[in-house]
Amino acid sequence: MEGLEEARARIEQASRVAVLTGAGISAPSGIPTFRDPGGLWENFRLEDYATPEGFAKNPEEVWRWYAWRYARVRQAKPNPAHHLLAELEAQKGDGFLLVTQNVDGLHQRAGSKRVVELHGSILRARCTRCGHTEPLPPPESFEPPPRCARCGTLMRPDVVWFGELLPAGALEKAQAAFAHAEVALVIGTSALVEPAASLGRLSKMAGGYLIEINPEPTPLTPVADLSLREGAVEGLARLLKAQA
Ligand code: APR
Repeated sequence: MEGLEEARARIEQASRVAVLTGAGISAPSGIPTFRDPGGLWENFRLEDYATPEGFAKNPEEVWRWYAWRYARVRQAKPNPAHHLLAELEAQKGDGFLLVTQNVDGLHQRAGSKRVVELHGSILRARCTRCGHTEPLPPPESFEPPPRCARCGTLMRPDVVWFGELLPAGALEKAQAAFAHAEVALVIGTSALVEPAASLGRLSKMAGGYLIEINPEPTPLTPVADLSLREGAVEGLARLLKAQA
């Protein structure tokens, strides 16, 4: 168990902690991941639903899919893993940054404040012409596709699709946090999609202590100082509860 003991001590002593989360941390909240068996990309072609070309070809169908995901996200609740990360942020203060690939807003609903949403948010729409963004209305009164209140043009989900740039400044902020972190935690991501997938390595190369939590091995596993082969809730409880 020395790996776990050392990891706990490192987290306890660290003043700079960077965390990257993926869809796996929201799985216990009932939100499907993308690449697990039964995941979203098994039932929906990502080319049709998560690319600018797919949206241009059939905006109504893409909005039907996002409205369905949006309703599920709004019904979902943050799970103990989200709450444990909010507690860790409260302990570490300014030295903490949570970088998420998730668009579900569950970290913020669990109380996390220092959050960078690398892939945008499913809770907002963005005008395809003027860039104006608006929060989506409650699912029960949402009638997609939304039109811009400012210029009347078709709006799109305010998320990052394949082949698109990340929100301005988000990646730089994330890279700086991981490059300076004493401890980097990578939780619930298949570590396949760049540039998020490289953040853990960036921290390791800069001398950080890299911890991964994932029931499955990933390309990051061989690089990690400790890779817990378990779920986010169980893994974080073992890593952090001992601090409480
Ligand atoms: N706890 C922790 N990890 C889990 C759990 C759990 N309870 N359940 C599943 N996982 C892990 C899986 O083993 C897998 O490695 O979560 C990971 C989910 O991987 P993906 O479905 O690929 O999700 P993610 O890594 O977030 O995808 C990255 O790809 O499609 C794009 O933009 C989308 O942000 C997404 C990006």
